[in-house]
Amino acid sequence: MATLLSVLLAGSALVSAQDFSGGSRGEDAFSWVQPVNTTILTEHGSSPAVYPSPNATGAGGWEEALQKAKEFVAQLTVDEKSYMVSGQPGPCVGNIAAIPRLGFPGLCLHDGPLAIRVADYASVFSAGVSAGASWDKALMYERGHAMGQEFKGKGAHVALQPVAGPLGRSGYAGRNWEGSAADPYLAGVFMRETILGTQDAGVQACAKHYIGNEQETQRNPVFDPNGTDTDVISAAISSNLDDRTMHELYLWPFADAARAKVASFMCSYTRINGSYGCQNSAALNGLLKTELGFQGYVMSDWGATHTGVAGIEAGQDMDMPGGLGAYGTAFAEDVPGRMPSFFGGNITLAVNNGSLAETRVDDMIIRIMTPFYALGQDKDFPTVDPSSAELNTFSPVSTWKIDWNLTGEASRDVRGDHAKLIRKHGAAGTVLLKNVNNALPLKAPKNIAIFGNDAAEPTQGQLNQVNYEYGTLAAGGGSGTGQLTYIVTPLRALQDRAASDNAKIVQYWLNNTLIADTDIDTLLIPDRPEVCIVLLKTWAEEAADRASLHVDWNGDAVVDSVASKCNNTIVVTHSSGINVLPWADHQNVTAILAAHYPGEESGHSLVDILYGDVNPSGHLPYTIALNATDYNAPPTTAINTTGVYDWQSWFDEKLEIDYRYFDAHNISVRYEFGFGLSYTCFAFSSLAAEPLAENISALPEKLDVVPGGNPALWEAVYNVSVSVSNTGPVAGHAVPQLYLGLPGSAPEGTPPRQLRGFEKVWLEVNQTRTVCFELMRRDLSFWDVVSQEWKIPEGEFTVGVGESSRKIGVEKMVEVLGGY
Ligand SMILES: *[C@@H]1O[C@H](CO)[C@@H](O)[C@H](O)[C@H]1NC(C)=O
Ligand SMILES: *[C@@H]1O[C@H](CO)[C@@H](O)[C@H](O)[C@H]1NC(C)=O
Ligand SMILES: *[C@@H]1O[C@H](CO)[C@@H](O)[C@H](O)[C@H]1NC(C)=O
Ligand SMILES: *[C@@H]1O[C@H](CO)[C@@H](O)[C@H](O)[C@H]1NC(C)=O
Ligand SMILES: *[C@@H]1O[C@H](CO)[C@@H](O)[C@H](O)[C@H]1NC(C)=O
Ligand SMILES: *[C@@H]1O[C@H](CO)[C@@H](O)[C@H](O)[C@H]1NC(C)=O
Ligand SMILES: *[C@@H]1O[C@H](CO)[C@@H](O)[C@H](O)[C@H]1NC(C)=O
Ligand SMILES: *[C@@H]1O[C@H](CO)[C@@H](O)[C@H](O)[C@H]1NC(C)=O
Ligand SMILES: *[C@@H]1O[C@H](CO)[C@@H](O)[C@H](O)[C@H]1NC(C)=O
Ligand SMILES: *[C@@H]1O[C@H](CO)[C@@H](O)[C@H](O)[C@H]1NC(C)=O
Ligand SMILES: *[C@@H]1O[C@H](CO)[C@@H](O)[C@H](O)[C@H]1NC(C)=O
Ligand SMILES: *[C@@H]1O[C@H](CO)[C@@H](O)[C@H](O)[C@H]1NC(C)=O
Repeated sequence: MATLLSVLLAGSALVSAQDFSGGSRGEDAFSWVQPVNTTILTEHGSSPAVYPSPNATGAGGWEEALQKAKEFVAQLTVDEKSYMVSGQPGPCVGNIAAIPRLGFPGLCLHDGPLAIRVADYASVFSAGVSAGASWDKALMYERGHAMGQEFKGKGAHVALQPVAGPLGRSGYAGRNWEGSAADPYLAGVFMRETILGTQDAGVQACAKHYIGNEQETQRNPVFDPNGTDTDVISAAISSNLDDRTMHELYLWPFADAARAKVASFMCSYTRINGSYGCQNSAALNGLLKTELGFQGYVMSDWGATHTGVAGIEAGQDMDMPGGLGAYGTAFAEDVPGRMPSFFGGNITLAVNNGSLAETRVDDMIIRIMTPFYALGQDKDFPTVDPSSAELNTFSPVSTWKIDWNLTGEASRDVRGDHAKLIRKHGAAGTVLLKNVNNALPLKAPKNIAIFGNDAAEPTQGQLNQVNYEYGTLAAGGGSGTGQLTYIVTPLRALQDRAASDNAKIVQYWLNNTLIADTDIDTLLIPDRPEVCIVLLKTWAEEAADRASLHVDWNGDAVVDSVASKCNNTIVVTHSSGINVLPWADHQNVTAILAAHYPGEESGHSLVDILYGDVNPSGHLPYTIALNATDYNAPPTTAINTTGVYDWQSWFDEKLEIDYRYFDAHNISVRYEFGFGLSYTCFAFSSLAAEPLAENISALPEKLDVVPGGNPALWEAVYNVSVSVSNTGPVAGHAVPQLYLGLPGSAPEGTPPRQLRGFEKVWLEVNQTRTVCFELMRRDLSFWDVVSQEWKIPEGEFTVGVGESSRKIGVEKMVEVLGGY
């Protein structure tokens, strides 16, 4: 989604690469230039052709809804059909016009992944990265469900979430925090649970951004400001990836989304193997609608449609937000009442002159209306909250071409008691990385010193769209943010808690420059603080990649300054994701918490952890390396040539992203994927592994495809169980993680170990529980590019369960194919 940013960027179409305004820049900046192989460049457009576009069948439980959708389509004129698939400016971020004569109310589509953004009186939830760091399936569902209720209360039929693209190929990518984890398995669980939660609340979810959307830089083409809408100076970045990498990494979580019967997919801005995401027939007709059996519709990202009939035939079903793609030209006047569009009136023309089969247009609408009926949106769905119209800066009232029948109560408060959930979710997404000298939990300190520009109130208002120096960060920027109705800052929550403990003083300094440049002994009162809490932040946003993996605003120097004088320094980061922490081994840094983007209850979530009301149980959904230069697969941030198609990103690392890379090359890291401390300790024992079927075959039985693909891939074939004990002083949540190493017969490039199961279990002191993991066929397989099947390799698998990817508590070798 572009939304606000596209408006900001309008008229500056040539500013294509990085926006350098705001933010501090670390030393590991910005000089990657991808090698240009001119032979390959001339081969742009090398994605295979997969036609025709498969019709929806309703398979997997939507048969009845599909029938209703067919009956609906049968009543439409060609002109009505064309506008059923074409967005219009209106009260929502995306709008499909009503057809009053058929009682069809239209469709309201709204951002985004942590809140209904264009809304008043709505909650700001924790970000995807926090949900990922919770490793808690029930939490992911609960969060999706609560968000779904808020979208529905505001009359939004479609919530433009959740995100599995970017997956997190590079920690620099600007939107990783909207998604959950740099691992397809964890991201897949997040997709499934969020979708089920959202759709159980009666709201359509949208799996985005499909696919290969792994960087922001050059995500859109640069148009010639002097030319027409279609004169392109440079095309969008092309993510070039091989078939195996596609299946085992990037497609994997989207398969979970299809399996959860997500209503819609959003095709990405990015090109894939040279062909735009919304007109790539291999990705849409092939992988999504054939292999994964997806039964819903594919909408474009905002402005990602660059063609009409060709995209429709490649599998795109809806153009959003409507109008032509170029930023700033989207809503120019053409036919009164309708916008000029690659879809819209052009579909009517194409059907009438025979260049587009009307049956394909029918299928587009059947795909759009089937989830509408399946989720019961034809019955008593709330009207669009009229306040949406005033808040929508993306398509303000002045741009509307048609009347929107806005009825019903305005400014509905949809927050309910969600603050309680958000407080809990924020704490659950907080990862304790270091805790020495019994620093945490705090024991009612009476003299507290607080440092850092992330501690207190933001000074730039409540819809953060530009990185700001002063104020805590509860969410990132762009279409994935939310409109805060209030924020509990860390400073406020700490002051309240200190007051209830009859503390004597809470001293604070919020100016990073001042703290970094000053001997803090000269700032503190003579009576030494018992604890110094440093609050730092790291901004990330849509439309720009991060320039540094260090904390922002000279935060490293802030820690150095405080820790040089305070022997109990606790550092808390509010961050989009990966931060290298060069001061982590400092003897005076006694505790580190990665608090991610916790949402509106930020301070409460943090205080709950700091004071031990909540025992930390978050685990990293990515790897923290020793050094920023240790990471591979950086975004492409510049090119040396000027050819239209020259922006390329070669996914040459293949499966080796994040821990898969560090493990394959035996590189030491600071905190590995899956790492996270607790105030108690856990022990793992009695690992057992048993097949659930006799004679497991290497290849799956060929069954009829349902959403998610061949159902045989989702059958549990192996059961693993392990005993987990709480051996420490307090009750808490353990997160046993199952990592699988494939046998040596798997093809070259197979990662040493991959996450294939996790659970979150509550354990009282001294309690032991047995935890079971069901491994599905897909979990034990690699994608065989020759047979084009998921295949279980022969030989010994290594099954390990532990508390992180590098702390495997118990391990066992098993043979799956006939070896038991
Ligand atoms: C790109 O150009 C820069 C500056 O001329 C040069 O240093 C660099 O080697 C070039 N990179 C490639 C991949 O050609
Ligand atoms: C460029 O790509 C071509 C085609 O894939 C390949 O044969 C050639 O070796 C590549 N050249 C370089 C310098 O990588
Ligand atoms: C992209 O190209 C690679 C290499 O030719 C191929 O393996 C893969 O299947 C292609 N994927 C798509 C979606 O075009
Ligand atoms: C889709 O269904 C229509 C009939 O509505 C049929 O004409 C068309 O061939 C079908 N397309 C595919 C790809 O099966
Ligand atoms: C406007 O909305 C109201 C309430 O949903 C409905 O009763 C009415 O028929 C609608 N009018 C038109 C013209 O769609
Ligand atoms: C657009 O036209 C203006 C005025 O003629 C000129 O200065 C500018 O360089 C042109 N821009 C491009 C990208 O051609
Ligand atoms: C059809 O698409 C073209 C761009 O290819 C655009 O210029 C034209 O305005 C569109 N027509 C309608 C009726 O939307
Ligand atoms: C922050 O501190 C620096 C250094 O003392 C000072 O120059 C700057 O004006 C301060 N900023 C604010 C907003 O007070
Ligand atoms: C740790 O803090 C003490 C003050 O309590 C200070 O004297 C010492 O130099 C600090 N250590 C380091 C390595 O900065
Ligand atoms: C930390 O500093 C305080 C006061 O400055 C002192 O009382 C305490 O002993 C120090 N602790 C350690 C472990 O050095
Ligand atoms: C990080 O990498 C840079 C560049 O390779 C190097 O100069 C620096 O010493 C490294 N730092 C650490 C802590 O390894
Ligand atoms: C846990 O077990 C230890 C060792 O047997 C025992 O000393 C302790 O009292 C037990 N704690 C609880 C809360 O049961």
